Amino acid sequence: MQNNEVRLKKLLESMTLKEKISQMLQIAPNFYLRQGAITGPMEELELTEDIIYNAGSVLGAAGAELTMDIQRKYLENNRHKIPLIFMADVIHGFRTIFPIPLAMACSWNPELVEESARVAAKEASIAGIHVTFSPMVDLVRDPRWGRVMESTGEDPWLNSLFARAFVRGYQGKGLSDKESVASCVKHFAAYGAVEAGRDYNTVDMSERTLREYYLPAYKAAVDEGCAMVMTAFTTVDSIPSTVNQWLLRDLLRGEWGFDGVIISDWGAVKETIAHGVAADGQEAAEKAIKAGVDIEMMSSEYVHHLESLVQKGIVDEALIDEAVMRILKLKEQLGLFENPYRGADPEREKTVLLCDEHRKLARKIAAQSMVLLKNQGVLPFDKNIGKVAIIGPYAEANHILGGWSCEGRNEEAVTLKQGIVAKIGQDNVIVAEGCDVMGEQLNLSSAIAAAQQADAIILALGEHPDMSGEAGSRAFITLPGKQLVLARAVLELGKPTVVVLFNGRPLEITELDYIAPAILEAWFPGTEGGNAIADILFGDVNPSGRLTMSFPYTVGQIPVYYNCYNTGRPKGRENNEFRFCSKYLDIPNAPLYPFGYGLSYTTFQYSDFVLDSNKLTVDGAITASVTVTNTGKRAGEEVVQLYIRDVSASVVRPVKELKGFQKIYLEPGESRKVNFIITEPMLRFHRKDFSFKSEPGHFIAFVGPNSAQLLEQPFELV
Ligand code: GLC
Repeated sequence: MQNNEVRLKKLLESMTLKEKISQMLQIAPNFYLRQGAITGPMEELELTEDIIYNAGSVLGAAGAELTMDIQRKYLENNRHKIPLIFMADVIHGFRTIFPIPLAMACSWNPELVEESARVAAKEASIAGIHVTFSPMVDLVRDPRWGRVMESTGEDPWLNSLFARAFVRGYQGKGLSDKESVASCVKHFAAYGAVEAGRDYNTVDMSERTLREYYLPAYKAAVDEGCAMVMTAFTTVDSIPSTVNQWLLRDLLRGEWGFDGVIISDWGAVKETIAHGVAADGQEAAEKAIKAGVDIEMMSSEYVHHLESLVQKGIVDEALIDEAVMRILKLKEQLGLFENPYRGADPEREKTVLLCDEHRKLARKIAAQSMVLLKNQGVLPFDKNIGKVAIIGPYAEANHILGGWSCEGRNEEAVTLKQGIVAKIGQDNVIVAEGCDVMGEQLNLSSAIAAAQQADAIILALGEHPDMSGEAGSRAFITLPGKQLVLARAVLELGKPTVVVLFNGRPLEITELDYIAPAILEAWFPGTEGGNAIADILFGDVNPSGRLTMSFPYTVGQIPVYYNCYNTGRPKGRENNEFRFCSKYLDIPNAPLYPFGYGLSYTTFQYSDFVLDSNKLTVDGAITASVTVTNTGKRAGEEVVQLYIRDVSASVVRPVKELKGFQKIYLEPGESRKVNFIITEPMLRFHRKDFSFKSEPGHFIAFVGPNSAQLLEQPFELV
């Protein structure tokens, strides 16, 4: 056993059972900051001073001075001088806020996302944070669920690439590097499949669906070395994840070999009572520790019941020892025993957080995250276009950071108006809000007056950031309030107009798509949002974003996703009149905008898609090549996508699955041959007996600019 482990073992042996159990509690910083008694919701935790000064970790505290003060006071009151771990939700930046993850994923640039996580880790660690509850890698198919904003979309393979990128960015050279933070992947597992998109709702699916679609990205984070896993509020196979022994001990620790720390989500241990699998707090504590949850976040069933459960012989103290050892090891890996203040640095905090270099990266990522959905000759605007009217609730709103924006401050965000003024000068910009985001307010006359003075119009529309994120479920996912009324009136004028959307989910914008000549999906673009949008609208950046989550034609179509099954009665072409097939009477099957979709200011042509062989052997490889030509007048980036279909297998298989992509830059007129290597491991799936293998037979390879416009070539696995 290594020296460190020997030392930790000795420390563990010197702790009382009560002290050990307290290490398994995570509480909010209020308990360390208060002067008087704790009141309000925290009161129900009924924590004594002794428990508070033996709790193992704290969540939500940020700031070098604050965290150092809490740590100092804590260590003065802790018999063993075991430092606290400081954890927080650094989801898409700490003080410099990057676009929401669903936006960053549209960059199809894992390296850039890794860079953003690196910066987030640097800023957070300087502010005294040791662990981030990120990445959230829940696969999503239902935009009614507000937390789609935190995810990277509907494809398991792409989600896995981003999961790895986030973990690498956060953990960097290792947890001993004081500018890194430990990564806690969440929410294990399949939280994104809540029924009807209603947060915290039932999740129920086959094990095959769980393994094929929902689990891969968590496994990718574990394989990349994430230090922690957070359990989901929801159920797997009718058992809440937080007390699910199959999920945590058999699969996560057994099958995947994860030996890091498992933490519950906020109150999730206690919520197993409401779920109906624990009669009381004692049973909740028993089931959670037996399932393998090491840290109970913000409920106190462990500290109130584990000691007696051990004394009654119902829970083996060894389970507590192994949990506490994992927590102590994490503190060791973070270097907290050597330096409990780790990277916290009040002086560096003033110069590093939100520095120009970080803002520059935020601007670059935001521009790559935006998706040009429509452009009928409107964009890019010429910088000498004359007067530009910015109309709508997001014309000069600064709440553009999105949910989970940690220490980001709206007042530090570059608004759309500021970005446009910086681009073309104050004298060329007219602003009229026209209506607010949510309400009934509507001032059409001011909006029309502004529009009539302008040579071009930007309609700045969207959701309020509180309409997505946790507990942000919406049954109707249209533009809220009177925004569509405003848009209709302004578009009536027939001037060059682009709609810029600020939103945390795919919206139902079918009518807007019909009446607007140009639409730019800006998502919640973060601190540099206004500058990034201006860079795109005026052509300094050619948009290259591609959707990673389908935009439904209507909410009635949900869930709609590209990697679906064919069914026994596929509809085939959209104009198919045959009644008795899988279709709607009133809408198309296809989404409004499909997975992988996005436009550029130039055009690309795909030709000569060939396979160097149409027979693939188990240890062989096929080279799929396609020629991509920039047929437009501007340089631009194209995301060349490879999909594969397993036409017939022992279980039904998706009509296509993303298996590769290359983001390439082409000058006007330039052609490039893009090659993809297809090998047998890419064809493996969970068969009837859940063995993860390929099966010989017919396959189809597809390449194209998105999941709907594809060239195809058949091949066979022999
Ligand atoms: C929340 C969220 C989780 C977050 C945790 C701590 O309820 O579900 O994503 O990390 O609490 O804030």
